[in-house]
Amino acid sequence: MNYSKKDLKKFHKAEIMIKKKLIKNAKKIDKFLLNFLNKQKSSSLVRPMKYGVISGGKKIRSSIILDAGKLFKINEKKLINICAAVECIHSYSLIHDDLPCMDNDTIRRGKPSTHIKYGEASAVLAGSSLLTLAFEIITDQKYLISSKIKSELARSLASCSGHTGIAEGQELDLKFEKKKKNINQIIDMQKKKTGKLFYFCLYATAVVANKDEKEKKLLSSLGEDIGLLFQLSDDFLDKRGSSKLMGKPVKKDNKKGKSTLLKLMGDKKAFLYADNLKKNILRKLVKHGKKAKDLINTINFIFERKY
Ligand code: IPE
Ligand code: IPE
Ligand code: MG
Ligand code: MG
Ligand code: MG
Repeated sequence: MNYSKKDLKKFHKAEIMIKKKLIKNAKKIDKFLLNFLNKQKSSSLVRPMKYGVISGGKKIRSSIILDAGKLFKINEKKLINICAAVECIHSYSLIHDDLPCMDNDTIRRGKPSTHIKYGEASAVLAGSSLLTLAFEIITDQKYLISSKIKSELARSLASCSGHTGIAEGQELDLKFEKKKKNINQIIDMQKKKTGKLFYFCLYATAVVANKDEKEKKLLSSLGEDIGLLFQLSDDFLDKRGSSKLMGKPVKKDNKKGKSTLLKLMGDKKAFLYADNLKKNILRKLVKHGKKAKDLINTINFIFERKY
């Protein structure tokens, strides 16, 4: 595609703004998590837990939650626990994802994976403890939302994380290695391993904003599609990206025989699929007008990112 100089300048400006926003949000969530952990009784797992969740990662799911909150003018204070809980679940899934029994990766976020630094047993236990910490954060007494909303959030977060969500997606991802799977099977697997947590991000903002069932459904399925887009770009970056920028090894999916759309349809078709998915997502946000500006910028970043 040919862009004018003016367009390119605009894109560049948007990219710088989103990078700044990601860093600002990540700092906020790190601070919240540190505070939360410091207020609890200490344990020998706190170090590997902090290592796995704090000071690292884009924390893009938190930015999606805060951006989506702007659709309904939700005060950030009402969303920060949800962001922190989601980052705990995400980091737990990465700690386990890197284990030798799963993807067997030794570098994550530019440093040794948690099991390399602390050993496998501690990594498994720190990962599980981050999973349960997420629910302590969502149901915390100091979190000023109603008990009804808290329990709705906890229920949805559980189903998005467990055997109907991330865990099942990860199980399928491993079972699909070196197997010929069709497009629907791959999309189903990716929507579970990555899409479901993004589903929760948008579902949660709709719940906090007291939206009706129809709106909750619309938004959460939009979230799931954003998650799928995110995984598709992760798969592209594994093939074409830089391990230095990504902070993790690249060119590993092919060696492991991972089932991805990229492998099934080739670069060109997979790119068109992702581009079409992005356009459909953006189309559904038109009705929100200017309030969707930040969310749209983050979605564009997800598609064009280099890390
Ligand atoms: C990596 O997620 C794993 C996938 C779901 C593709 P991120 O790219 O969000 O990882 P961090 O948190 O920024 O390290
Ligand atoms: C992981 O997908 C998705 C998770 C839910 C953890 P990948 O295995 O592709 O993630 P990376 O490439 O190791 O970050
Ligand atoms: Mg994996
Ligand atoms: Mg992996
Ligand atoms: Mg990957």
